[in-house]
Amino acid sequence: MNYDLKGAKIIVVGGAGYIGSHVCKTIAGHGGVPVTFDNLGSGHEHAVQWGPLEVVDLRDKSQTLTACEKHKDAISVVHLASSIEVGIGEKAPAEFYENNVVGALNLLDGMRAAKLNNLIFSSTCATYGETDQMPLLESQIQNPFSTYGKTKLAIEHMIQSYHKAYGLNYVTLRYFNASGADESGLIGEEHDPETHLIPIALAAAAGLRGKMKIFGTDYDTPDGTCIRDYIHVNDIADAHICALEKFEAGLTAAEVNIGTGKGVSNLEILKMIETVTGLPVPYDDAPRRDGDLTRLYADPQRAKDVLEFTARHSGLKNIIQTAWHFHSAKWNVN
Ligand SMILES: NC(=O)c1ccc[n+]([C@@H]2O[C@H](COP(=O)([O-])OP(=O)(O)OC[C@H]3O[C@@H](n4cnc5c(N)ncnc54)[C@H](O)[C@@H]3O)[C@@H](O)[C@H]2O)c1
Repeated sequence: MNYDLKGAKIIVVGGAGYIGSHVCKTIAGHGGVPVTFDNLGSGHEHAVQWGPLEVVDLRDKSQTLTACEKHKDAISVVHLASSIEVGIGEKAPAEFYENNVVGALNLLDGMRAAKLNNLIFSSTCATYGETDQMPLLESQIQNPFSTYGKTKLAIEHMIQSYHKAYGLNYVTLRYFNASGADESGLIGEEHDPETHLIPIALAAAAGLRGKMKIFGTDYDTPDGTCIRDYIHVNDIADAHICALEKFEAGLTAAEVNIGTGKGVSNLEILKMIETVTGLPVPYDDAPRRDGDLTRLYADPQRAKDVLEFTARHSGLKNIIQTAWHFHSAKWNVN
């Protein structure tokens, strides 16, 4: 993908986070200038390396409007800022709705006031309902199980309404499981607490925590564990460049899965970690968790058709190698 952003400014809301920092690096790699809006609540200042940082909390409407006005020369906004821990969403839905839904509403209004007319929104496969029909098509009914998924679906609907009434152009990217790290080792996954399988398993292999848990080993899959679609974070970042290029070509509205189309089981992840690191991953079997589907993987065809996007970095070995490269350096283990 050779798209040249020619010095154009792009606002990356949540640019201090895991995926946002990779999006910023990729934008800079295509000649653009990423301007991060972030409240540094779960993101990290040290991850903002490719453009300026505006410390903005989306829950504060006047701060958000002021920041949008200041950067109204941007060609697009990428909205990644969100509360993401599914468990916290169940215990504290009020905070979740405020941060995700009210935050997104303030951003949409800031964009409208500043005449920022292009939005790329980070949605999730967690917006789909329970189904056995895999791969998941974008036309699948959206009936999310979790508060997290419900907030993301509410934002998708708000964006559709703003498109219809105010002419907002948008691309909603429904990411599957983000994973891996930039090859440079400069940025990677740094959630606290960490709830994602790969960094937890790497920490277990490195001896930095006790045994991890594998939730459910009696699913109807070849090895009994759940199957998910792991997509490298730099592939996700590339999908944003494809979306920016398509805005320029006249795209006005799209909902698109961002996954590989291939399912990988929990135990296959653990085996690949053992191969890459040479370390065993200690784990215990644990009961299934509510809401965990047996299989979840994308149909990636619409991403090809609408965005000309294909995953290039998402081989499982590369995902684990790049994640290990980042984490082992951070933890000072070899
Ligand atoms: N990680 C995944 O596997 C995955 C999968 C599907 C969708 N997503 C979506 O991708 C996006 C990014 O995920 P991530 O894993 O990089 O999360 P992250 O927590 O690393 O990044 C989120 C960023 O948003 C910022 N933020 C949160 N609330 C804010 C607010 N009110 N104002 C300003 N900044 C705020 C945080 O400080 C952080 O830097 C999220 O919207 C998430 O729902 C992630």
